Amino acid sequence: MNAMELIRQRRSVRTFDGRPLRAEDREKLLAFAAQVANPYDLPITWRILSAKAHGLSSPVISGTDTFIAGKLRRAPHAEEAFGFAFERFVLYAQSLGIGTTWIAGTMNRPAFEAAMALEGGEVMPCVSPLGYPAAKLSLRESLMRKGVRADSRLDFSALFYDGDFNRPLTQAAAGNLSQPLEMVRWAPSAVNKQPWRVVLSGGSVHFFEKHSKGYSDKSGWDLQKVDVGIAICHFACGLEEQGVAWRLTTADPGIAVPDGTEYVATIERDQ
Ligand SMILES: Cc1cc2nc3c(=O)[nH]c(=O)nc-3n(C[C@H](O)[C@H](O)[C@H](O)COP(=O)(O)O)c2cc1C
Repeated sequence: MNAMELIRQRRSVRTFDGRPLRAEDREKLLAFAAQVANPYDLPITWRILSAKAHGLSSPVISGTDTFIAGKLRRAPHAEEAFGFAFERFVLYAQSLGIGTTWIAGTMNRPAFEAAMALEGGEVMPCVSPLGYPAAKLSLRESLMRKGVRADSRLDFSALFYDGDFNRPLTQAAAGNLSQPLEMVRWAPSAVNKQPWRVVLSGGSVHFFEKHSKGYSDKSGWDLQKVDVGIAICHFACGLEEQGVAWRLTTADPGIAVPDGTEYVATIERDQ
């Protein structure tokens, strides 16, 4: 299955069928997580956890006892690095028929952090359940999906720009980048806010964050930068599918930004 198909098939799975994760799937997932890279080269530690053994719970998840969590040191770009790496994992799980849901909020966080042996200076941004999707969504899950309009996304022209923020990008003008951008469009984000914005300029692809209220805490941790890391991951998957080598830089191009919008990173062809 190609990356676009995986991305279009993926949805958050909150209702599982009760079967325990098969040992061979667990091994494959752990092996994948252990080698998953991120363009900021920040090391991330992953653990697959049993809810029963560690007293973990999430009020939105039913039908599985298994979760995965990741932790890393707090550092500049930790959010994007985590978003990128965890989304690679999510898409790999999807390729095995294993359901996931990014969870930053709806869990008993102290129990997860204890299970991860979180130390001072570390952060555990998100966790996910792991298991086999149930045939039917729970009522709670259906209502949640409606509440955040989980099956839809903003239009291409509302997210992507040509040269600067004054000119919306058309699919035609995007050319070969139209498909990778479409893959960005379908990325998951916290409360489906889709905070990523992209400006194509001079062959470079600049990623920005359009801040919503309430996603940064006092320490400066910004959950919507995790979303932008996920978007960059989808874009990278699209380029890789076209055989294009890429690199990430963080040199602000100085493009004038609308209120509440912040430069995050640039993706360029790696010649
Ligand atoms: C960083 C992040 C945090 C999220 N946190 C939660 C959460 O705490 N609880 C939850 O039920 N869903 C959470 N989600 C899932 C989103 O609600 C979901 O991805 C979005 O509504 C789009 O739906 P889809 O994933 O089915 O495409 C989170 C997603 C992301 C990317």
